[in-house]
Amino acid sequence: MDTFYYIGTSTRQSSIMRVFPAWAELLGISKSFIGINCKIHDDPEVYRKIVSFIKNDKKSLGALVTSHKIDLYQAATNIFDEIGDYTKLLKEVSCISKKDGKLWGHAKDPITSGLAFESFIPKNHWKKTNAEIFIIGAGGASLALTTYIMQELTRDNLPSKIYVANRSQPRLSHMKAIHKKINPGIRIEYLHHPNKEQNDPIVNQLKLGSLVINGTGLGKDIPGSPLTEDVLFPKNGFAWDYNYRGDLLFLKQARSQQKERNLHVEDGWVYFLHGWIRVIAEVFHINIPTEGPQFQEISDLASKVR
Ligand SMILES: NC(=O)c1ccc[n+]([C@@H]2O[C@H](COP(=O)([O-])OP(=O)(O)OC[C@H]3O[C@@H](n4cnc5c(N)ncnc54)[C@H](OP(=O)(O)O)[C@@H]3O)[C@@H](O)[C@H]2O)c1
Repeated sequence: MDTFYYIGTSTRQSSIMRVFPAWAELLGISKSFIGINCKIHDDPEVYRKIVSFIKNDKKSLGALVTSHKIDLYQAATNIFDEIGDYTKLLKEVSCISKKDGKLWGHAKDPITSGLAFESFIPKNHWKKTNAEIFIIGAGGASLALTTYIMQELTRDNLPSKIYVANRSQPRLSHMKAIHKKINPGIRIEYLHHPNKEQNDPIVNQLKLGSLVINGTGLGKDIPGSPLTEDVLFPKNGFAWDYNYRGDLLFLKQARSQQKERNLHVEDGWVYFLHGWIRVIAEVFHINIPTEGPQFQEISDLASKVR
């Protein structure tokens, strides 16, 4: 049977194991879906074997990759026949697919995080408000989102400034090096903030209508928030956590000010949906809309079975 793979670390525990078969039924695609668990920073030979198998096995259609995007790309670059522009830029593979007999390695995250971002940010928001963005956590998801902002937004609709804070320096330096190649001129400040108390003053002085993002995993991977209880969110602003499970303390902090500050509070559910659906569309070569009634049907089904 045609098979779609999920390359991760603890794939069995993921709700996608229940969600994918339901989506497959709805979309009329093969339900054969297999999780492959690798150790974090596994032996490069492991990644090479997996990618070679998918390439050579006619029944293997492709894969979604989490946790190993950079390691898999580094180990298996020369096994891919084609790689996308974002794969070249970010040096990672999050989607493996086949087209016209060729094996493709895609980096989908700039597109999927961008779709999630656009789902709640009003049209021409940055042009109309001159607002700013503060991202806490400089990992892969934040790099993907800033890549989207720099590469895909029109020049007349950019945030007036982006702040990125991280508890350690290496990810900030990596992000800065990539931004240097693609930044169309957005003012950007990289902040090494080992303590959460350092993040509050940045949030407190953001312009009206600004966006604050928790991209640290705090509130899911481990409990907590990268802000203190004293923080003041920007009026008419947006609070977005990339996650939708966990104690989501950052979102609770935002909700406690939602009415008084007129805040939009967004979790990571739509991000999760786009992350999977764009890869499924690529691997199965089907057209799935990014909004509207069919997207809503897919979202509702996932909520029901997850
Ligand atoms: N909804 C979705 O579908 C979706 C999609 C993508 C990601 N996510 C979630 O978003 C989160 C981030 O993902 P990712 O891929 O970017 O992870 P990642 O690459 O591991 O990056 C996490 C970053 O946050 C930083 N960090 C952790 N705790 C911090 C703190 N207290 N203060 C400041 N920075 C802190 C880490 O710092 P160091 O560099 O010092 O380790 C790291 O740079 C994860 O929890 C992930 O599950 C959700």
